Amino acid sequence: MILATGATGTVGSTVIDALSGSDDRVRVATRDVEAARAELPGVDDYVTFDFAHPETWGPTLAGVDRLFLVRPPVVGVDPIREFVDAAARVGVGHVVYLSVLGAEKNPLLPHRRIERRIESSGVRHTFLRASFFMQNLVENHRRDIVEHDEVFVPAGAGETSFVDARDVGAAAALALTEPGHAGRAYDLTGPEALTYSEVADVFTEVLGRRITYADPSLLAFARRMRSRGTPLPFVVVMLGIYTTARLGLAGRVTRDVETVIGREPIDLREFVADHAGSFRR
Ligand SMILES: NC(=O)c1ccc[n+]([C@@H]2O[C@H](COP(=O)([O-])OP(=O)(O)OC[C@H]3O[C@@H](n4cnc5c(N)ncnc54)[C@H](OP(=O)(O)O)[C@@H]3O)[C@@H](O)[C@H]2O)c1
Repeated sequence: MILATGATGTVGSTVIDALSGSDDRVRVATRDVEAARAELPGVDDYVTFDFAHPETWGPTLAGVDRLFLVRPPVVGVDPIREFVDAAARVGVGHVVYLSVLGAEKNPLLPHRRIERRIESSGVRHTFLRASFFMQNLVENHRRDIVEHDEVFVPAGAGETSFVDARDVGAAAALALTEPGHAGRAYDLTGPEALTYSEVADVFTEVLGRRITYADPSLLAFARRMRSRGTPLPFVVVMLGIYTTARLGLAGRVTRDVETVIGREPIDLREFVADHAGSFRR
């Protein structure tokens, strides 16, 4: 049985999708079984699960031999590390963990602290160190594009190697079901690194209307996000991510998506075309 945490999230939902044709039994771990059933129909099993409620962990892990592990952005490192220990105790044989590009260089990063606990658990593992998801452009920045015809992020002229979460999900499904991925860490990026000016140009071309890159200051960005009710901790995380891009540290491109899934990664043009309906006025 494969257990998917974060199954209703951006990457997890694509993992479930990619696993739908496989012979393996799949269990969705969620805080809301009815909502997950509606969102992800046809999965073998659904279980009520919360990292903050260890009493839900036993039934969640019963009979599981492989685990797709996501740290929800709102959950601290400690419950995740304790969940890794619990998975090791009950004999889970392989953990595929959704990490972040460059995690290995920063021992203080939550993702690296979780990776290290997985390494020391003795359980076979695969780390998927993903670059910035294209899906953030829909989930966090759609309104600026729809209402103002602008990409409004404080990333200066820095490049980002955007990856489509569907490719990350496809890689996760293969790492969970194929031999040969244990002990590996994959740096999952898209096919190219783009500045946000270039991102705006792709939107212009695909949507057929002029989209510009606003390049706001950090303060102007934080103000706009807060005025929309975005929680402060999330604004702070975004400021960190866009500052990393501004400093030129988010543009590394690798071939690991192709290595794992056997085809070229999805590029931004295809992503925008697939989501064009969300960006129309
Ligand atoms: N965004 C990026 O560009 C990017 C890039 C690289 C890596 N990452 C990493 O990817 C991870 C997030 O993945 P995502 O974007 O796919 O997730 P997401 O869309 O933010 O979804 C969060 C998931 O976590 C679950 N969840 C929330 N609170 C929970 C709790 N207390 N207990 C159990 N489950 C809980 C939710 O499930 P239910 O509501 O069904 O319970 C949901 O499925 C983070 O670790 C992030 O750092 C993100």
